[in-house]
Amino acid sequence: MTSVVLGVSAGIAVYKSCELLRLFTESGHDVRVVPTRDALRFVGEPTWAALSGNPVTTEVWESVHEVPHVRIGQSADLVIVAPATADVLARAAHGMADDLLTNTLLTARCPVVFAPAMHTEMWENPATRANVATLRERGAIVIEPAVGRLTGADTGRGRLPDPAEIFEVCRRVLAGGRDDLAGRHVVISAGGTREAIDPVRFIGNRSSGLQGYALARTAVARGAEVTLVAANVTLPDPAGAKVVRVESARQLRDAVLLAAEHADAVVMAAAVADFRPVRQSDSKIKKSSAEPDPIHLTKNPDILAELGEIRRARREAYAAGDGRHGTPVGRDAPGEAAPGGPRVIVGFAAETDDVLANGQAKLRRKGCDLLVVNQVGENLAFGTPDNAAVVLTAEGGSVEIPRGPKEDLADVVWDLVAQRLA
Ligand code: CTP
Repeated sequence: MTSVVLGVSAGIAVYKSCELLRLFTESGHDVRVVPTRDALRFVGEPTWAALSGNPVTTEVWESVHEVPHVRIGQSADLVIVAPATADVLARAAHGMADDLLTNTLLTARCPVVFAPAMHTEMWENPATRANVATLRERGAIVIEPAVGRLTGADTGRGRLPDPAEIFEVCRRVLAGGRDDLAGRHVVISAGGTREAIDPVRFIGNRSSGLQGYALARTAVARGAEVTLVAANVTLPDPAGAKVVRVESARQLRDAVLLAAEHADAVVMAAAVADFRPVRQSDSKIKKSSAEPDPIHLTKNPDILAELGEIRRARREAYAAGDGRHGTPVGRDAPGEAAPGGPRVIVGFAAETDDVLANGQAKLRRKGCDLLVVNQVGENLAFGTPDNAAVVLTAEGGSVEIPRGPKEDLADVVWDLVAQRLA
């Protein structure tokens, strides 16, 4: 039985951690809840004891004969702190040991996950940013808070993500234990763009966003900082990813290019409309119009090709000794700036015929490093939990991924990305 420590600090979101605790215990984990003193003002000790079936202590001075201040951390397979307040992040980052939770964090040799929850101002404060960066540098996974309603009337970034999403991150950390993307920033596009015809109609596609979201979830679990640019996806935000919502191809382009400036890898899983109507009607097109006007289309930017092109130009400028662009591509070590743009660019392609030949040609045309070629049809790809694909590499290699969950495909993609970044 795996041994999980659930650290709980004093935020209003503590009530959601009761559900997180249930998810752990119902899936067979032995959970020891370690609240801070003030967390007990929100949810009391009897609730944690009853739900976990274990004693609950906040201080190092209780049950001293069992040496809890070192034993709990030493014997844990995972420590998850949810909610993690600005105060607990600060104390953890500075190695303080003033209660049982911070002692446990200092003695834990297992993966540590923090799920912060606080007001936007506190999350964005330079002190908190520095503490989060320190914890991430030391290998902790700090899940990005969600955006939404906060305590009182405020809304913004700072909400504790859905307990099921936090549980999913922890489950994957416990299962894989890989942190080969720690310190890396990855950008993922997901979903399908919509090109407006009028205020109520659009040209769209059938992409659900499931594959892009699986990529985001798995990257978070492997330690990456994740920006997920989501085009018209209705799935819940993956815990830990910074989600940027867009509708059209041009909005997707702007969001991806902006995030890519500081990314180690970009994975373009979104289905981007190749064309958009030349003209968008400001008012709803009425059926009473005598003859319907044909919809004239114009080309959308090819974002993947543009990413490859920007990188190629920067490499050339660097080779020619033009110092303006810094290092040629990406950064050499986690923590450094990435002036040259992403070191690894991954495209997706859905093909129905001549899958491999079309895929190789597309990989070269778009200047990417890896191309995941989906075989569309037979209930694969769109809207299904499963996928099958071949990943083509710029060196001419290929890796076959048999039909299986989209999470498995995502892990193979990250294996290949991590190899290239290593
Ligand atoms: N893509 C993009 N911008 C576009 C179209 C596609 O960035 N305007 C990206 C997709 O996100 C995907 C890859 O390019 O990663 C391949 O998309 P696909 O639609 O298969 O390629 P196309 O360029 O549309 O090629 P074709 O129509 O010839 O299949």
